[in-house]
Formats: sequence, C-alpha cells, structure tokens
Amino acid sequence: MKTSVASLQGVSETALLTLYARAVETRRPDGLLRDPTAVALAERIDYPFHRFDGLATLDVCAVRAAEMDRRVAAFLNEHPTATVVQRGIGLNTRHFRLNAPRATWINVDFAPVMRLRRDLIEEPPNVIDAQGSAFGAEWMEAVPDAQPLMVVAEGVLYYAEPSQVREWFVRVIERFPAATFLFDTIPPLISRWASFHEGLRAVGIRQPMPWGVSHPRAIASWHPGIANVSHAAYMRETTRGRWFGALCRMPLIRRHLNPFIVQIHPQLIPLT
Ligand SMILES: C[S@@+](CC[C@H](N)C(=O)[O-])C[C@H]1O[C@@H](n2cnc3c(N)ncnc32)[C@H](O)[C@@H]1O
Repeated sequence: MKTSVASLQGVSETALLTLYARAVETRRPDGLLRDPTAVALAERIDYPFHRFDGLATLDVCAVRAAEMDRRVAAFLNEHPTATVVQRGIGLNTRHFRLNAPRATWINVDFAPVMRLRRDLIEEPPNVIDAQGSAFGAEWMEAVPDAQPLMVVAEGVLYYAEPSQVREWFVRVIERFPAATFLFDTIPPLISRWASFHEGLRAVGIRQPMPWGVSHPRAIASWHPGIANVSHAAYMRETTRGRWFGALCRMPLIRRHLNPFIVQIHPQLIPLT
C-alpha cells in the first residue's frame, strides 16, 4: 500500500514537486543528478505526480538541486566533519546523494513533513531531525560546537516575508558568525506573480512568495557579517528549463527573471 501525504498542506505540499523533479532527473540519461532514493520515495507515495509532467519548474528544480549539491560537496570536501543544516528539507535526500558519513546533517521542517520523513526514510545515525518552523530557535540547539557550519535553504526562503527573512539571517549570523549560507532567491517579478507560478498552480495551492530579490548584492547590507556574498544566475548557464530557461537567457529580459543561488561565506576574523 502506498503512503498517504494528506498531512502535507499548503507550502509543505510543494516538497512533492521538488521530490518529483529529482526523481524525473534521475531517470533521464543526461540527468544532472542521481537520486535513486527520490525515485523510490515517489513510487511509494500516493500522489498524482503526473500533474507535474512537462513543467519547466521540474528542470529549474533539478538544475538548482544539482548546483547546490556541487556547492555543499565542495564545502564538505574542505570540511568533512562539518554540520549542514537544511532548512525546509521537505523530502530532500541530499545526504544520500553526497555520501558524507563524517558530516552531521540537521534537517528542519514543519512537524507533518518530519513525521512523513520518519515514516518513509531510514536515516543514518549522523542525521538529526529538528521539527518546527525554521524561524524558531530549536534547531540551533542541535548544532554541535566547534565544527564548521553550512546553513542550506533550498526552495524555501521566498515563501516568507522579507522582514522575517532578514531577521532570521541576522539572528543566525549573530549566533553562528562563522557559518556559510547557501540559498536561492527569486526575482521580484516572479514574487509579484506568484499566483501564475506554474508549479504552484500544478500543486493546486495559492501560496504567496513575498521575498523577491533583484540582485543578491542587496543582502550584503543586512549585517556587517554578510560582507562576502557570491551568486550565480543558475538558469542562465544551462540549456534546460523549456520556455522559462529560454527567457532567462534572453539579454533584454533576463535580468528581470533570473533566480539566483547565493552563498554567503564567513568573514575572515582578524587575528588579534
Ligand atoms: C519547495 S519545498 C523544498 C523542499 C526541499 N528543500 C527540496 O529542495 O526538496 C519547501 C519546503 O519548505 C518547507 N518550509 C516552508 N516554510 C518553512 C518554515 N518556516 N520552516 C520550516 N520549513 C518550511 C515546506 O514545508 C517544504 O517542505
């Protein structure tokens, strides 16, 4: 019998879209990532995933996931015993894709999502579940001292109000000044037109995406600890993404449409 996901409501249901994107990508001969766990999960879940077939959003999610995998892998290559917090983890199984047994993975999402994960996924001992809103402080208590830290937020921050996102960054940076952040942003145009977003329409929810970003450099002004920001317009460098990818590559309009992957590197603390 397949597993019901009726407990996933509102924004949490979008985790099924990104899961399906990784499953579809894995089945492609030219797939950008390999995630057999995503394929197995999609097969076990009772949900009409085929409603997502043909969406440009599937490609966008796959390109983004592959690029984020590459960046998390590079971080773990340098810091094999680091902690990686995944904020809004959904049904993502990055820790299996990257196979980093010495790292600690802290996965954060709302209680129904974390319950579903526990029903579906047998986690290795280096994974810590933290349930509740990522705006809460509970997950911070689980972060081990004295290990490098990366905080990843994939496909999640733009569902929050801009002031909440900013306050959250400031709070986390003040608590963990040496943390590296990895997240993605959407442009203001997509934020404003969230009700036309093909992925959200296919999921069948009316979900605002209030946090739109014209250019990630604006984030650097939020806190003195955010001096070192790098970014990539990940849909510009790929031929994937159907009509959306084509628009992201068009010179005159691409600056209004491109989503970014952003990395905040810790500031070098001067020796005293
Ligand atoms: C589009 S899904 C992305 C899931 C996952 N990051 C991935 O790439 O597959 C958005 C996820 O963020 C979670 N989410 C949204 N707002 C959240 C919050 N304030 N605290 C914790 N999780 C949140 C939702 O429950 C959902 O699982």
